[in-house]
Amino acid sequence: MEQGFVDVCSETELGEGGVLMVERGGEPVLLARVGDRIHAVAGLCPHEDAPMDKGYIKDGCVHCPLHGSYFDLETGAVQADPAEEDIAVYPVRREHGRILVGPPAA
Ligand code: FES
Repeated sequence: MEQGFVDVCSETELGEGGVLMVERGGEPVLLARVGDRIHAVAGLCPHEDAPMDKGYIKDGCVHCPLHGSYFDLETGAVQADPAEEDIAVYPVRREHGRILVGPPAA
């Protein structure tokens, strides 16, 4: 199960422009719908573990709610201090109205 795609929620649970915290293999994962795309990235900020669903999405990035770091949803790359690490990015599949999240890119 850890290797494959995991069903995490239905598409209706993730509203237009919305974010949703789900879990994959015991790890918190943030889903973010931007236009037609659904992104899945690490759910906790690498700086001090802030829950990213309490932040916001802007210009293709997820902004941490605490200290101003933000991360590219496409690549996970950190864009601003104080966080220094990129965040994990997970592949997403949509099947029959469900959202599936695969293992994070190495
Ligand atoms: S916890 Fe995210 S920038 Fe500090």
